[in-house]
Amino acid sequence: MLNFEFFTPTKMIFGKDTHKRVGEVIKSYGFHKIMLHYGGGSIQKNGVYEQVTASLKDAGIDYLDFGGAEPNPKLELVEKGAQLCKDHGVELVLAVGGGSAIDSAKEIAVGACYDGSTWDFSTKAKTPQAALPVGVILTLAASGSEMSASAVITNEKLGLKRGYNSELHRPLFSICNPELTFTVNKFQTGCGIVDISMHTLERYFSKSPDTPLTDAIAESVVRQTIAAGRRAIKNPEDYDARADLMWASSLSHNDLTGCGRETFMACHQIEHELSGKYDFVAHGAGLSVIFPAWAKYVYKHNVPRFVQFANKVWDIPVSQENPEETALAGILATERYFAEIGMPVRLSQLNVGDEAFYEMAEKCTESGGRTLPGWLPLNTKEIVDIFELAK
Ligand code: NZQ
Ligand code: ZN
Repeated sequence: MLNFEFFTPTKMIFGKDTHKRVGEVIKSYGFHKIMLHYGGGSIQKNGVYEQVTASLKDAGIDYLDFGGAEPNPKLELVEKGAQLCKDHGVELVLAVGGGSAIDSAKEIAVGACYDGSTWDFSTKAKTPQAALPVGVILTLAASGSEMSASAVITNEKLGLKRGYNSELHRPLFSICNPELTFTVNKFQTGCGIVDISMHTLERYFSKSPDTPLTDAIAESVVRQTIAAGRRAIKNPEDYDARADLMWASSLSHNDLTGCGRETFMACHQIEHELSGKYDFVAHGAGLSVIFPAWAKYVYKHNVPRFVQFANKVWDIPVSQENPEETALAGILATERYFAEIGMPVRLSQLNVGDEAFYEMAEKCTESGGRTLPGWLPLNTKEIVDIFELAK
């Protein structure tokens, strides 16, 4: 096991009706002036907006209403929001939504304490030194942003989507009521199931010696996600299934499933090029196409790890004579599951052709200047090969 630091300062407030307490939660920290940040209207449609604003009013919290975060959230809105926070003396940014609203809020919070564009941080040219606190009311189990140190923003002018980590990004609190996800449609539920699985599996498949306890936690998170996913797709109002997905979302990406392991998320890096180039590609849908292709491309370089995955996650018996067959069976089982829950597993299903494979691979490797590490290091050629396998 490698040395590690594990830091999850986010207070998790989980369960039925919890979002209706948001006003008193904010008040308990001593904040009076906040920005209320959300997406494109789902919270107005399902009544969450009304419940949240009522709670804020009851607690005497003054809020600046600032919605409009789009899926694959954009830099322009972040810059506007950061300026508003400065102009109005905002003390905390409250995100109500999925990963896009949360990431947008995280960057607004950083931008409110910086004289310049937060793109400086996304490109890693600079490191943020301060941020407003961020609170979250989660409405979609997927990104894990409610507990993660990451924020992923798209610079629409450059057509680039970039994420970076900072401990300043960890939310102060996250309110997670599984009932708020009942209205998430089948496609977004599927995107979430894939994203949660991938946050866990990208850590599991990293280039590190085995870590039995961390491995067992990861295998369990994925198994439960698969099972709960099936139930939530069938019955969107299955509270326990939605609750398992919501808790798994946080556990998959708060670093627990990677303790003692080196983490470098190759599929995520490749997928960010895809949804950065093609704005209509949802992150989870991009991952459900990229992961099977990546796994088929690299599995022969670490057959025992894929055998363990096939056996522990999918209950596939281990073949002593032909372990490669077992390894591949685990990958195919994952691909079949993604298809079963309605997710695309080929680029053609996303309406993405092969015209920009090289361009996306070059962006991902910064024109050959960086290699994605792993059992098989990936440079431009290998990433193009993976896109070809995903066609
Ligand atoms: O915008 P609204 O109207 O709210 O609608 C959203 C959006 O259209 C809708 N939705 C959300 N909650 C709903 C709902 N619809 C009905 N009922 C509800 N309760 O779902 C759509 C997708 O929302 P979005 O926030 O974009 O999805 P997700 O949570 O999957 O977030 C995706 C973003 O997170 C980034 C991704 O790259 C992508 O930009 N990620 C962030 C990470 C992080 N910060 O740690 C890690 C991830 O790997 C990921 O990269
Ligand atoms: Zn993700």
